[in-house]
Amino acid sequence: MIVPFDDAAIARASALLASGRLVAFPTETVYGLGARADDASAVRRIYEAKGRPAENPSIVHAADAESAFALALDVPPLARALAARFWPGPLTLVLAVRPGAVANEVTAGGPTIALRVPAHPVALALLGHVKLPVAAPSANRSTSISPTTAEHVHKSLGDRVDLVVDGGATGFGIESTIVDVTTSPARVLRRGSVTLEDLRAIDETIVDTGGSVVGHGEVARAPGTQARHYAPTTPLELRSRADIERALGEATTRTGLLSRSFDDVRAEKAIRLPDDPARYATGLYAALHALDEAGLDRLLVETVPESAAWDAVRDRLTRASRPA
Ligand code: TXA
Ligand code: MG
Repeated sequence: MIVPFDDAAIARASALLASGRLVAFPTETVYGLGARADDASAVRRIYEAKGRPAENPSIVHAADAESAFALALDVPPLARALAARFWPGPLTLVLAVRPGAVANEVTAGGPTIALRVPAHPVALALLGHVKLPVAAPSANRSTSISPTTAEHVHKSLGDRVDLVVDGGATGFGIESTIVDVTTSPARVLRRGSVTLEDLRAIDETIVDTGGSVVGHGEVARAPGTQARHYAPTTPLELRSRADIERALGEATTRTGLLSRSFDDVRAEKAIRLPDDPARYATGLYAALHALDEAGLDRLLVETVPESAAWDAVRDRLTRASRPA
């Protein structure tokens, strides 16, 4: 059930979380599917609801850096510097986990924990009220498109979630940047709106392994790098504008178009996103949800520039376009 954000909704959501139930809530990136991180059966509910493999660990959300770092065994100076600069915000830090701090299910039994302090009034109100670490992967069925609205959550998970707190559409639109600070140099495991350049302003040695892709069935050292992720059920092809214009001329199937630099009325359904990486990211998942629901045979998506500013968007599109 979906409730609008207000004090009563936060009190109710907080009570549900405390009693081991699932609550979906907005963050500045995407909606998260939350459960208290210190309760194994609560966390197992997340995995059942998402249909997510148990070997994929979940991000733990906290109200502030102090509560987040209390779950870590050791907090290197770089983690403190990154937190001071980017929290609250769309950055997740992987640190050594303090034994017993959270249920084993959260870390998939591994030695590390992924921590984040989200910059969203609803998430912060909820985390501040419940005063517990909250494990929350994106609030969608495993491998499908991440939710940027409460309706997306409801469509994907239905009654598998006990409550959805509606805070409107999320701002950044793609998931947080993940940085592993347990290694030297620190490594970007997943690209997001905090870019490598932003990170290197704090530590110039940080490297990007975010583009690496792990095949199905393998347990990833850098989880979240499964080849196919964030994908619509309609086959999606990433093509150049010229290619798409040619394909639309010959199309005999119901074809959807997601473009940024041109319009083409020959597409059965077309969405054009802004030709700017941040504004494109904000609208990306909602566009994929809408195209996926239109009953089309295939989706043609215009490629994005090779520049670093488009890295996070290009990464999501590439993963969405791989065959199942
Ligand atoms: O923006 C976000 O990060 C959103 C919102 C809800 O906070 N959450 C999110 O969660 O994207 P999820 O589960 O869809 O992606 C979390 C990623 C997973 O790919 C997981 O493998 C990785 O974080 N992860 C979790 N714990 C980890 C750990 N200990 N070490 C490395 N990666 C980890
Ligand atoms: Mg996800």
